[in-house]
Amino acid sequence: MPERPYTLLSCAISIDGYLDDASDTRLLLSNEADLDRVDGVRAGSDAILVGAATVRSDNPRLLVRARDRREARVARGLPPSPMKVTVTERGKLDAGSHFFADDHTEKLVYCPSDIVAEARDRLGSVATVVDGGQRVGMGWLSADLHTRGVSRLMVEGGGTVLTQFLGEDLADELHLVIAPLLVGDSRAVRFVENGRFPWSQERRATLAEVRRIGDVVLMRYALSSRFR
Ligand SMILES: NC(=O)c1ccc[n+]([C@@H]2O[C@H](COP(=O)([O-])OP(=O)(O)OC[C@H]3O[C@@H](n4cnc5c(N)ncnc54)[C@H](OP(=O)(O)O)[C@@H]3O)[C@@H](O)[C@H]2O)c1
Repeated sequence: MPERPYTLLSCAISIDGYLDDASDTRLLLSNEADLDRVDGVRAGSDAILVGAATVRSDNPRLLVRARDRREARVARGLPPSPMKVTVTERGKLDAGSHFFADDHTEKLVYCPSDIVAEARDRLGSVATVVDGGQRVGMGWLSADLHTRGVSRLMVEGGGTVLTQFLGEDLADELHLVIAPLLVGDSRAVRFVENGRFPWSQERRATLAEVRRIGDVVLMRYALSSRFR
């Protein structure tokens, strides 16, 4: 099997398991203290991956926010923030979104071969567009990131991407934050979609830590023997 980065999945959900509500505005699930914890996890990563729908709907910057963390990375010979990675089937991403800002981070866009030319036209000036073959598999993408020097990958969602990493047994660690609210709308995006997952009654994941952070709770799960 090709080598892949140590992979940490991170997201915040409502009590009823949603990543967002069904409205056009982003639902705030985390609190400031938890966002700061996430910032620390980002700072310890080589790359951050989100799905194209998250780039479109949340317009995230995906940068390390704290100055001391950025400086510590630079002192270690790293860019201030990790590489940003996204994956798209259709390539309909806006080159003007925060993800592609001129912010001293490397950006990669993985897409299927049939839209590579179109994606390069649209995004080639702001990112490296990578031909992911007929269908971009997350196992292949992970291995490719490893060849590009990524040894620690943070996957920040959304549900479609998290589902693939979990379903394909490509994750080593899960940080699941539960916010004290319910969404109650099945049109919203769930943390995981339907699928077959390696963890079941027979193979339970290992709960490594439970931490209260203000009004949210963080659960850290060890998902592989590489967990550390
Ligand atoms: N609470 C949290 O922690 C958190 C974190 C992140 C996101 N979110 C929320 O999650 C929602 C988005 O989640 P989502 O499940 O709809 O979408 P997503 O996982 O962010 O992105 C899905 C999109 O990624 C692309 N994609 C996924 N797998 C692919 C593959 N194997 N090959 C090629 N392209 C692939 C496709 O892009 P194209 O459509 O471009 O073809 C697909 O439509 C948003 O509401 C966001 O606010 C919440």
